[in-house]
Parts: sequence; structure tokens; C-alpha cells
Amino acid sequence: MATRPGPSPRVRRNRLIAGLVVAMLVVVASAWVIAALAPSAGSASPSPSPSATPTATPRPAPTATATPTPVDTFDKAAHSIDDPDSIWVVVDKLRPLNPADYEPSDLVVVPVAHTWEPLMRAEAADAIVRMFQAAADEAGLSLASNSAYRSYGSQERIYDGDDTLTARPGFSEHQTGLTMDIGAESGYCSLDVCLADTAEGQWLRDNAHRFGFLLRYPADKVDVTGYQFEPWHFRYIGTELALEMREKGITTLEEFFGLPPAPNYE
Ligand code: DAL
Ligand code: ZN
Repeated sequence: MATRPGPSPRVRRNRLIAGLVVAMLVVVASAWVIAALAPSAGSASPSPSPSATPTATPRPAPTATATPTPVDTFDKAAHSIDDPDSIWVVVDKLRPLNPADYEPSDLVVVPVAHTWEPLMRAEAADAIVRMFQAAADEAGLSLASNSAYRSYGSQERIYDGDDTLTARPGFSEHQTGLTMDIGAESGYCSLDVCLADTAEGQWLRDNAHRFGFLLRYPADKVDVTGYQFEPWHFRYIGTELALEMREKGITTLEEFFGLPPAPNYE
């Protein structure tokens, strides 16, 4: 049987090329279909919009300050510091009473234990009675007056020439009727610096402000007041000012009212 002759080499080559072309078309078409169906990265489909993009919530601005600046509402002009009738009158070596022979008009006898019968202005006398009673009730202490109001003439008689211990007439707080020298009723350490070490002296130091009194000549303010430490000398200034000075830690009237130190007479 005769064998059919096979295609010529040229025909075989053309068939091969055609087959390759078809195969390539199939591959390209398949790849296109796969790419179109797959949710692939890089596809043209838009990416989903991000849901609920958190909008940055601005932090509240910090409040002005954590510690508010205290407003000083104390009225330093509520009473005169010049008028001898004022409970805030400031008397020192640069600030004599005016007039020099001033006499209070409302002096009363202070009903407390004493060495010399004490007179004071009525408001100060009431405060002394309350303070002596509190010392007895709260601490079992018996206080006494050693000296209170002194007139210009009385001050002339007791002035001993030592300007660090005694005021000249017309320059003494005792003449205002607002001051008392206080000690123990026993007399122990009366008018002596050792009073500061007694229970009476310490109670007065720690409590006098509650009743409107000021320890007028502190140990550490000799350069301001001009007088040696007098743990017995208490000046009535009223509770409003006494509490304010205590709270502020200011211990002399000169410093509180911005007055010049008065260590010496002019
Ligand atoms: N001892 C006081 C300063 C006076 O004499 O007033
Ligand atoms: Zn005194």
C-alpha cells in the first residue's frame, strides 16, 4: 500500500506558527478573563472609602491656671491710721499722737485682775474681758493687767530716758486707750522677757489675734518698732486686722501699712 506523502516542510512550519499564535491568543484571553473576575489589588475598581474616618477631636485648651491668683480684698483704708480715735491708729517714734495730749472719750474701767486699776476704751475693754475669760476656760490660766491707759502726764512720769524700753510722752500706744500690758495673775515674769517662756505668755502669743490684739513689739522686729521685745504689750486693732495680719504673717503695723521703720525719733 502506498503511503501518502506528508506535508512539505514549509507547510509544517506554517502549521506550527499558526498553532503557536492560537496558543498565545488562548493564554492572553485566559489571563484577561482571570484578571477581570478576580478582586485583585491593582484593579481599576475603586477601593472602598474608609469608613468613619476618625476626625481628630481637638483637646480642650487647658484652663487658665490650676491655682487661681487670690484676690486681695482687704481694705487697708477701712479705718484711719492717723486719727487717734481710730482703732488702727499707728503710733511709733515717727508718728506721735496728734494732738500730743490726746485723751480717749470712752475710757472705762476694765473688770479684770490687775496691779493698777486698768482703763481702756470700751471696745478694747470688752475684748480684754473675753480674752481673759478664754484663757481661763481654754487653758486654766489666770491673767492680769499690769498697765493699760496712760495719759500724757502718766507717760511723762514713767519715761525713764531709755528710748528702747519706754516711749516718750505723746508717742506711747498706752495713751490711745487701746493697749494693755498683760501678765500672769501670780506676777511671775511680769513686764519681763521671761514671760515669753511661761504658759501665759505663750497662750497670749498664740491666741491674742482671735480677740483683736497684736503683740506689738516682737523679738525680731526691733529695727522696725524701735523697742525691745515686749511679750506683755498687746495693742487692740480689732479682729478684722488682727486676723488678716496673722494670716499674712505680717507682725508689725509699720510693715502691714507700708510705713517706714521707726527705730529712732527724728
Ligand atoms: N513700753 C512701751 C514702748 C511704751 O512705753 O509705750
Ligand atoms: Zn506696754
